[in-house]
Amino acid sequence: MNAVTVSDLTKKFGDFVAVDNISFEIAQGEIFGLLGPNGAGKTTTISMLATMLDPTAGSAEVCGYDVRKNEDGVRKSIGIVFQDPSLDEELTAGENMDFHGRLYRIPKKTRLERIVELLDLVGLTERKDDLVKTYSGGMRRRLEIARGLLHRPQVLFLDEPTLGLDPQTRNYLWEYIERLNREMGITVIITTHYMDEADRLCKRIAIVDKGKIVALDSPEQLKRQVGGDVVTVFSPDYPEALASLNISWIERIERYDGFFSIALSDVEEHLSELMKLLIQYEIAIRSVSIHKPTLEDVFLHYTGRSIRNEEAGTKDHMRMAYRARRH
Ligand SMILES: Nc1ncnc2c1ncn2[C@@H]1O[C@H](COP(=O)(O)OP(=O)(O)OP(=O)(O)O)[C@@H](O)[C@H]1O
Ligand SMILES: [Mg+2]
Repeated sequence: MNAVTVSDLTKKFGDFVAVDNISFEIAQGEIFGLLGPNGAGKTTTISMLATMLDPTAGSAEVCGYDVRKNEDGVRKSIGIVFQDPSLDEELTAGENMDFHGRLYRIPKKTRLERIVELLDLVGLTERKDDLVKTYSGGMRRRLEIARGLLHRPQVLFLDEPTLGLDPQTRNYLWEYIERLNREMGITVIITTHYMDEADRLCKRIAIVDKGKIVALDSPEQLKRQVGGDVVTVFSPDYPEALASLNISWIERIERYDGFFSIALSDVEEHLSELMKLLIQYEIAIRSVSIHKPTLEDVFLHYTGRSIRNEEAGTKDHMRMAYRARRH
């Protein structure tokens, strides 16, 4: 059985289509990402899966329960960490956890045992009696994740889990999410607009833009699909002979001042062959570098826009890089 099955799911707010007829499946034990820019429809999508919003059309099942017909079944099976903090700042970590456990009617003994275990898991045991308002952003996130796990959900939704956190804390959280998934077998659905986060954590990623899924695959496959692992060879020579050979795995060769770049369909497969050819044609090689496409390249490829559209400088840089790679 899939952990999540989504079929033609749509959400409209008035005339505005926030989620536009999306379909995908998530296997049990998978870490699945919804990657997209602000306003893409990520939060709206997981809100429907978590039964917090009614779909306008289409259907979805979570752990076999229909999100429209069996809200209780879905709610018992899932944990959710919201994009916006939802802890009570005037309570301690232990009290926040306890309150959540009571909501789920977890018997006292089990509740107290799990609180100890989970606070330990997220490294908050020593701070458990401090008020949450004295916590850092990273500590709050960790507490929210611990709280989301208290009723032992099979599926955990994390909406932008590392938004606004420093690199070290983000790394720590990533390791922690991976551990949860590996050791407890929890299916994790994560929304993010950070490409490094999706790349690092997710087994598969749905790239969403304006309510639609524009691509869905493993990070490796997505990057491979945009094609052209770029090998840059620093050399005084230009490989004229190679350019005229029409080799199937060479996508293009571009000449620059003092170096040339060769885009290969699959660098792992063909790099050694390329090197052999360069030596055969007596091309002087001073140095070689390889640029793998990133998820930013993938987003650009499918939407023509940079995912970091708030960063104009980056966008322009990426556009140029994209054009350079395409022509
Ligand atoms: N309750 C609502 N009423 C009207 N429009 C809404 C509502 N909720 C969301 N939207 C709109 O739907 C679109 C998708 O919003 P959503 O919050 O799902 O995006 P997101 O991908 O989670 O973005 P972000 O990265 O900023 O969190 C946005 O244009 C948003 O303004
Ligand atoms: Mg959101």
